[in-house]
Amino acid sequence: MATERTDHERRLAALRERASAELATSATTEALEEWRARYLGRERGELTAILKDLGKLPGDQRKQVGQTANRLKADLEQALEARRAALLTRERAEALERERLDITLPGRAWPRGHIHPLSRTVRDIVRVMRPMGFQLYDGPEVETDYYNFQALNIPADHPARDMQDTFWIAPGQILLRTQTSPMQIHVMERMRPPVRAVVLGKVYRNEALDASHEAIFHQMEGLLIDEHCTMSDLRGVVERFAREMFGEDRKVRFRPSYFPFTEPSAEFDIDCLICKGAGCRVCKYSGWLEMGGSGMVDPRVLRGVGYDPTIYRGFAFGLGIERIAMLRYGGDDIRLFASNDLRFLRQLG
Ligand code: DAH
Repeated sequence: MATERTDHERRLAALRERASAELATSATTEALEEWRARYLGRERGELTAILKDLGKLPGDQRKQVGQTANRLKADLEQALEARRAALLTRERAEALERERLDITLPGRAWPRGHIHPLSRTVRDIVRVMRPMGFQLYDGPEVETDYYNFQALNIPADHPARDMQDTFWIAPGQILLRTQTSPMQIHVMERMRPPVRAVVLGKVYRNEALDASHEAIFHQMEGLLIDEHCTMSDLRGVVERFAREMFGEDRKVRFRPSYFPFTEPSAEFDIDCLICKGAGCRVCKYSGWLEMGGSGMVDPRVLRGVGYDPTIYRGFAFGLGIERIAMLRYGGDDIRLFASNDLRFLRQLG
């Protein structure tokens, strides 16, 4: 009897030792679960089996062995919980270590973009024209021969057509606008005088490309129609524009010229920004930079849109936006604006 009891006690003691040792080397959640099933599991737990068999023992042993086995069960469960908690603490510590964030490290700066020099020029032009009462208008890049040429007093056989090599969509009828001037007609058709309009947009010319010629470029168009309007108003607006864009000390000069839709017509220049008129490579040693064309709107154009030229007069002017951007930001090749070459864009930005 005593021997049998000691046998059970010895078996339980050995189990305690083995289970404790295995628990100490179980280092993952899965290993712990496996350990629990092995000793305490309801189906195949070793200790569970012993507890189940208690009933087969004679009464006096049952109590004694039962007590020892139950104590062991409680101890093992407690040890498992302790081990689980320790493991969790370690895993958390490891995770924190893995994700360690050194907040004393200097930040990584993200490269900052900037507005394209052409867009910036467009914005600035609007900012200059708006306070003078000019409204911004937008119109089609695909035009009819009528708006791009005829309504601007450029009939089919007019030599002025040779000045602008046209991309035709339907030859003689539909084209990519070669200038923003057709917007003068659209605006006047839509509005009654007084009119103060500014137009900024793409134009297209079938040209041999070089550092100062692009097939696609941008123009600005200004138009003012009112009852009392003279060439000195044109001068005033163009001078204000040039000084806002290029500096208060700019001088503006008008030269007689010819455009079919203005009479009289004039081209205007500003004194060279680089050499202040002394003569340099940029102004080709003339001291002046060509800016654009202008003039008093031809009465035939006014009549064409239904304005009475005996009542209304007006002026128009137009210029290339790339050229303005090149003068303001530097850069000597118009093709670079559409090249997406970041070295160029950063240099101007
Ligand atoms: N449209 C002309 C061109 O592309 C420029 C121009 C000249 C516009 C005279 C005007 C103007 O408004 O009055 O060459």
